[in-house]
Amino acid sequence: MSTRRRLPFISAAILLFLSLPPPLSATNSHDQQHQNHESDPISRFRNYLRINTAHPTPNYAAAVNYLTAFAATIPTLYTQTLYLTTPDKPLLLVTWPGSNPSLPAILFNSHLDSVPAEPSKWLHHPFAAHLAGDGRIYARGAQDDKCIGMQYLEAIRELKKSNLDYTPLRTVHISYVPEEEIGGFDGMMKFVESREFKELNVGFVLDEGQASVSDEFRVFYADRSPWHLVIKARGPPGHGSRMYDDGAMENLMKSVEMMMKFRESSFDLVRAGLAANSEVISVNPVFLNAGIRSNDGFVMNLQPSEAAAGFDIRLPPTADPDQMRRRIAEEWAPVWRNMTYEITEKGPLRDYQGLPLMTATDDSNPWWTVFNQAIAAAGGKLAKPEILASTTDARFMRQLGIPTLGFSPMKNTPILLHDHNEFLQDTVYLDGIKVYEHIIRVLSSFDGDSITELQNKMSRL
Ligand SMILES: *[C@@H]1O[C@H](CO)[C@@H](O)[C@H](O)[C@H]1NC(C)=O
Ligand SMILES: [Zn+2]
Repeated sequence: MSTRRRLPFISAAILLFLSLPPPLSATNSHDQQHQNHESDPISRFRNYLRINTAHPTPNYAAAVNYLTAFAATIPTLYTQTLYLTTPDKPLLLVTWPGSNPSLPAILFNSHLDSVPAEPSKWLHHPFAAHLAGDGRIYARGAQDDKCIGMQYLEAIRELKKSNLDYTPLRTVHISYVPEEEIGGFDGMMKFVESREFKELNVGFVLDEGQASVSDEFRVFYADRSPWHLVIKARGPPGHGSRMYDDGAMENLMKSVEMMMKFRESSFDLVRAGLAANSEVISVNPVFLNAGIRSNDGFVMNLQPSEAAAGFDIRLPPTADPDQMRRRIAEEWAPVWRNMTYEITEKGPLRDYQGLPLMTATDDSNPWWTVFNQAIAAAGGKLAKPEILASTTDARFMRQLGIPTLGFSPMKNTPILLHDHNEFLQDTVYLDGIKVYEHIIRVLSSFDGDSITELQNKMSRL
């Protein structure tokens, strides 16, 4: 692993005159005129969106170069690029040193990558960052999560602009991690295990959240943990005309029926309004695999000797993973029914103390109180804290016992992450910068409860 470090004394004045790297993807002639126009936040956001960091071939280097060059224009920020796996998966760390470095730092996280997009299904090319007449900016990553990545930096830029001498009490770090959209294993997971991460002494993390269709911001205190489950049945093959016991298909179907009943009972709670989608265990079939191939489909007069099915299972932090494992072993894929199974757990289920991966959203967590103060200072309202239905990198920080909230300041916005025509309204984006100005100012000047924090830190080492 190697580290490139840009020292804080490289003055902004020198770099101010360096032009930023040009955007990489195709743009129309209207956009062309804006390419070198770096003087406003919307242009900078759109240029970041034009860098194609979608899987399976994310251009991380271009994104890191772009962010590094922008950070260099903001006084007192310095950047490091970490290579925790291979040279094509950089992780960018931006640091704003605080006046009291002994206090635990605040970390703002975002991921560099995005999911793929199908250009033919979009109104505008997903990497053109088209700004429509109504102010909508269309791009893959506009909501998930290139908005927050740029807003963090823009907010610090504003804080420094209004007062050049302004120094936070606590050190503020921003991390830009690769590979979140494919599980975070070569990104945040490696980062939290690194010496570099330990040295940051992180006390509180804000990571990505999701858009809110109402006037209230959403905030997430936990993720669900994904399991990939594959069950397989084996049995004697036989002629298609024969009825006999213990066939592979028959045994597989029994399991599928049981699993679908379980799914119904979870979903009934949601339908009845007794639980949110993210508060129950979801079990969704994703593949069925059986049959003997023929030239024009499947052999129809043969009952196969093997059959398999795959399921995406999500467990809320309140679920008991051992009980789930027992259910799978004893009911859904029991040996006595000649079944086997494989569970692939995509990340941790409990923290280093064996506790569920949840960040407290009450007075027991001083950061929760401070975060609420920051939102109030920004004139915002928070919705009831939620469990995220999907999974983010936040789970890796929560595993270390570091309080971590998921938050993206997008209100009155349709939820379009991973969807066609993902967009963000320009005014929503600009308001988000203001919100982070308050958040960064309030969080970084919080000087309370450092002793408790220190004790937490010690017990973790
Ligand atoms: C499991 O396989 C064994 C051996 O082929 C067979 O005797 C038995 O009936 C099968 N049991 C079930 C429930 O499929
Ligand atoms: Zn995301």
